[in-house]
Amino acid sequence: MAQRETWTSRVGFIFAAVGSAVGLGNIWSFPFQTASNGGAAFLVVYLLAVFLIGFPTMLIEFVIGRRSKQNAVSAFSELGYGNWTFAGAIGVFASFITLSFYSVVGGWVISYIVGSVTGGYLGQAGTFFGSISSGTVAIGAHAVFMAVTIAIVAGGVADGIERATKFMIPAILVLLVGLAAWGSTLAGSAAGYAYYLSPDFGVIASNFTSIVPSAMGQAFFTLSLGFGVMIAYASYLGRDDSLPADSAIIVVLNTVVALLAGFAVFPILAATDALTGSTGAGTAFVALAGAFGQLPAGQVIGLVFFVVLLFAALSSSISLLEAPASYVVDRYDVARPKVAVGVGLVSFVIGIVPAYGYVGLFNDFVFNILLPIAVLFIALFAGWVANRESIDELGRGTALGQGATTLWLWWVRVVIPIVVAYTLYLGVTNFYTGLTTGAYF
Ligand code: PFF
Repeated sequence: MAQRETWTSRVGFIFAAVGSAVGLGNIWSFPFQTASNGGAAFLVVYLLAVFLIGFPTMLIEFVIGRRSKQNAVSAFSELGYGNWTFAGAIGVFASFITLSFYSVVGGWVISYIVGSVTGGYLGQAGTFFGSISSGTVAIGAHAVFMAVTIAIVAGGVADGIERATKFMIPAILVLLVGLAAWGSTLAGSAAGYAYYLSPDFGVIASNFTSIVPSAMGQAFFTLSLGFGVMIAYASYLGRDDSLPADSAIIVVLNTVVALLAGFAVFPILAATDALTGSTGAGTAFVALAGAFGQLPAGQVIGLVFFVVLLFAALSSSISLLEAPASYVVDRYDVARPKVAVGVGLVSFVIGIVPAYGYVGLFNDFVFNILLPIAVLFIALFAGWVANRESIDELGRGTALGQGATTLWLWWVRVVIPIVVAYTLYLGVTNFYTGLTTGAYF
């Protein structure tokens, strides 16, 4: 079997993992989910979900990945629990399905970059979205986005993924800071910040059963948890890095990008009176393009915004392709470029369905059902099944004592499964309601 690749450095790994985490979820869904779920009220629940559930769950994936040095499926058999490979397989399946619709939305972003250059959406945001979001234009742009994703993953872990993300992440941060600064100059920005930052806890209480699954799904999605991606990425990691420290950096940076995106988007929405729209898959694009059409220098700002979105989307889509691809590379010892093309092509074909108007259906299926199921199983595995030797991987390369590992283990045993099972129950109920009320068809 070919020598398994590794990251060239710890920083390289962090960039790649942050690249996976920072994506359309941060810049596209987060501000809009926040806007339509009561603003700061949603933000509070989301931050709790990220730090109390997301962070310890990321550690589970890191422990499994680094301990086994395998992709998410083989990891379980490598650790000696062959009948748990299904837990990783659910995640890899989630990656694969997510890639198919993520690439469609990535294609929309490409069309919006073109539209920013040609002025195609100015003054007709709704019509423009209608013309690029489904059908042949959408499929063509989806093909371009997928082709770029395949090319990067074919380049390998160090030369492809690491190199691409080392460039894209700093670019995203710098450009977002610029956009947020520009947003602060808009008339009405104060109203945007107020809505974003002053929580109304009444809203949480009265919408508890919809806010909780949205915030938890968003937390898992944004941190790339439940996809097997963080297992695969940690499998290329050296033995002496501190998993808790790396994970903390990734979670904090990812949160910073989401918050910054909020600081860019809320003033824009407030300035154009679009603050509390609903979150259909397209609302974000229509609302923002509408705003760019009205604001001073909107076309240039629009271009910058959509370029940021494209970088964020690409640095994530490569990880979505890496999870299934690493499985095939490890398992069948086929050359990486061939695998990247093969897996990418199949995902492209599946993506033709969402490219005909079903992005919302795919998205909600992953958020509400696949992710909580995958996280529930890996938490049960780590908490109750894996031997203590594997769990002690958490402490390697750190000054943490056994006590800290034990504390984390109990959190993983009890708190995470209860919270995630409850989320899954709510998510299934909401998804079923969506199906029966015709929300998707
Ligand atoms: N975290 C990405 C985002 O927020 O857009 C989405 C994602 C990427 C999820 C990669 C999972 C993944 F493996």
